Amino acid sequence: MKVLITGANGMVARAVIKHCRSIGDQTIALMRRELDIADAKQVEEIFRRELPDAVINCAAYTDVDGAESNREASFQVNAVGVENLALASKKIDAAFVTISTDYVFDGLNAGFYTQKDTPNPISFYGESKLEGEIRARNVYARSIVVRSSWIYGEDGTNFLSVMHQLLAAGKTIKAISDAYGTPTNAGDLAVRLRELAELDLPAVYHVTNAGDGTSYEGFARKVAELKNFNPNLIQSVSGTDLQRPAPRPVSSKLACLISEKFGLASLPNWEESLAGFLK
Ligand SMILES: NC(=O)c1ccc[n+]([C@@H]2O[C@H](COP(=O)([O-])OP(=O)(O)OC[C@H]3O[C@@H](n4cnc5c(N)ncnc54)[C@H](OP(=O)(O)O)[C@@H]3O)[C@@H](O)[C@H]2O)c1
Repeated sequence: MKVLITGANGMVARAVIKHCRSIGDQTIALMRRELDIADAKQVEEIFRRELPDAVINCAAYTDVDGAESNREASFQVNAVGVENLALASKKIDAAFVTISTDYVFDGLNAGFYTQKDTPNPISFYGESKLEGEIRARNVYARSIVVRSSWIYGEDGTNFLSVMHQLLAAGKTIKAISDAYGTPTNAGDLAVRLRELAELDLPAVYHVTNAGDGTSYEGFARKVAELKNFNPNLIQSVSGTDLQRPAPRPVSSKLACLISEKFGLASLPNWEESLAGFLK
């Protein structure tokens, strides 16, 4: 399959590129300076030149706090950019997969969010991502929207990805004990994104590692346990203690109603997948 991957320098994109190459795909991996998804003309030109079978959009404005003060920048990438990609995919008849987020939900549901739950974002980042979902599906009915959550991976720079390095260096970390989610290994997500591109069944999917989910503190304690790090380095805090510009959903665990019905096995349990990552 010829797969075009956007935002190629990002954490998930790198996992997607690695996986696609490992199974023999021809990949066109484009970094922001090679393809700015907010530029509709450039998107269409490149798509018409490359003619991929599938597009996997990993590009996004991902600075959740920054989006509160840079609303236009976030909207241009997460909403307009996704629409540009969907429209250009339609023009060349390519499958289109785009990644969305658990932050489209308000986090007031203590259980798992499924596709039956109505999104109600509480941050501008979440709003812009939801708008991207809606626009993609409006302009190209074949769009596949993949909501994922709490992603960590190789070379990732977010808290979940670097926690083990901080603990290994003997640094104290503050881990929120009262925010819950479903961790997702970028490598596992990459495999599913590629499967969905091939399956080509348009829908909204929820893709995370299996299990009951955890809190940030729970994740940190599991990292410490698996690597034998000093658990006293983990300082338990409440989400409200960290004065961050953007509100986060308190509980945004995701579960999928349709993946198994389409013959897709659950991703590995999050603890098992984390253990593999830490090796
Ligand atoms: N990380 C998580 O926990 C998480 C959770 C749920 C959903 N997601 C979603 O998963 C997807 C991948 O996230 P990630 O964690 O891999 O993020 P990431 O590491 O921040 O990667 C995003 C990439 O998008 C690029 N980008 C930004 N604006 C662009 C533009 N206009 N045109 C082209 N590329 C652009 C960035 O380039 P620069 O580096 O040059 O800015 C960056 O390489 C995103 O859709 C995100 O919303 C992430």
